[in-house]
Amino acid sequence: MNVADSEVVVSILSGAGFTATTEIKAADLILINTCSIRDNAEQRIWGRLKEIGHLKKHNKELKIGIIGCMAERLKEKLLETEKLVDIVVGPDAYRELPVLVSEAEAGHKAVNVLLSREETYADISPVRMDKNGVSSFVSIMRGCNNMCSYCVVPYVRGAERSRNPESIIREATQLFENGYREVTLLGQNVDSYKWIDNQHSTGFHELLERVALINPLLRVRFSTSHPKDISDDLLHTIARHENICKHIHLPAQSGSTRILNLMNREYSREWYMERVEAIHRILPDCSLSTDMITGFCTETDDDHKESLSLMEWTGFDFAYMFKYSERPGTKAARKYKDDVPEEIKSARLSEMIAIQNKLSVKSKKNDIGKIYEVLIEGFSKRSSDFLSGRTSSNKVVVFPANGQSKGQYVKIQVERTTSATLIGKCINSI
Ligand code: 5AD
Ligand code: SF4
Repeated sequence: MNVADSEVVVSILSGAGFTATTEIKAADLILINTCSIRDNAEQRIWGRLKEIGHLKKHNKELKIGIIGCMAERLKEKLLETEKLVDIVVGPDAYRELPVLVSEAEAGHKAVNVLLSREETYADISPVRMDKNGVSSFVSIMRGCNNMCSYCVVPYVRGAERSRNPESIIREATQLFENGYREVTLLGQNVDSYKWIDNQHSTGFHELLERVALINPLLRVRFSTSHPKDISDDLLHTIARHENICKHIHLPAQSGSTRILNLMNREYSREWYMERVEAIHRILPDCSLSTDMITGFCTETDDDHKESLSLMEWTGFDFAYMFKYSERPGTKAARKYKDDVPEEIKSARLSEMIAIQNKLSVKSKKNDIGKIYEVLIEGFSKRSSDFLSGRTSSNKVVVFPANGQSKGQYVKIQVERTTSATLIGKCINSI
């Protein structure tokens, strides 16, 4: 999400005559795009700000801006106590950046953290900052209307709004014409994408189908799906199109219905399991990943065991796992006590990571001997004798280079695995 936002910011500033540099000491303007989702993300930004602040000693012209979620959440603190910060801009005010930079240059503190009900930056062509030129993100909506009790996103990114589908199709088509072969459609809850135009309404599965129809050689991914909203219509759409990747990121957060209720997730353990069964039924080769939180308010050992058993039952291919981090202003911070001691949160997280490692190894072992279509993204990190790409199910595959190039599809037979990667050989180019 933040990469996509940074690309919009670069586009807006380039349009106003700014140029980007990779040499931080040469910059007259440094913008730090921030995330507030967990406290440690914010702590890292404070550290970074101190490091960057030193550069002001050598360059009196240097202006420093904090943009994104932390700007929204901490505007007063940033301006009043952080003398280093000249510019504070929330996620819906990036169009104002050129004006705000001028204000900062004139010696004023420049601030705009107004949230909008309409802004989607639909007309802005993001300047791509990815390095591979093969896969890219396309933002399809902004904000979130779900009120998960632990989550700060609705407060810092505002209400949910969908982007005009025509502008999404245009952007994805342009990416394909520029050589990209994979787009990931991004939103906090893609299943609630909705655009109404002349009485015609476009839902997420219709949008996804339109993007898939741009070209069969363009792979389409999406994130994030919400278990309460993911529909059979969507699963059937994924099944109909070879180029819609067979991977669903479906954050469970917890396996305990009691905790899910407190989290305000609006589904139960049983509902989640039924959705997983529907995925297996309609998309037999689909991989699944999740986000999990350990140590949410009042979580008992039994609740924690239910999270672990849900993970084992589902057999996730991959998981992002976090300790609960109380965020000021959220419903959980206002109403519930953050009562699971830090050591218990950490111990539960370690246990969860160990279980997921076991599941990830098992999922990769299952792939040995299988043949997959792989989209090449470039050379492997370790050696230019090897190429690296991903399967439709989002697994990284490394294989010996033999004249193939990035952006190309190849058939790979998996021969062995490491902890993070499948290793195979090329059967033929497609
Ligand atoms: N504490 C810990 N994890 C959180 N997430 C969101 N808010 C919090 C929080 N307060 C996690 C959720 C979400 C992912 C993006 O971040 O698992 O799906
Ligand atoms: Fe946060 Fe829930 Fe919205 Fe995800 S769906 S961004 S966890 S409020």
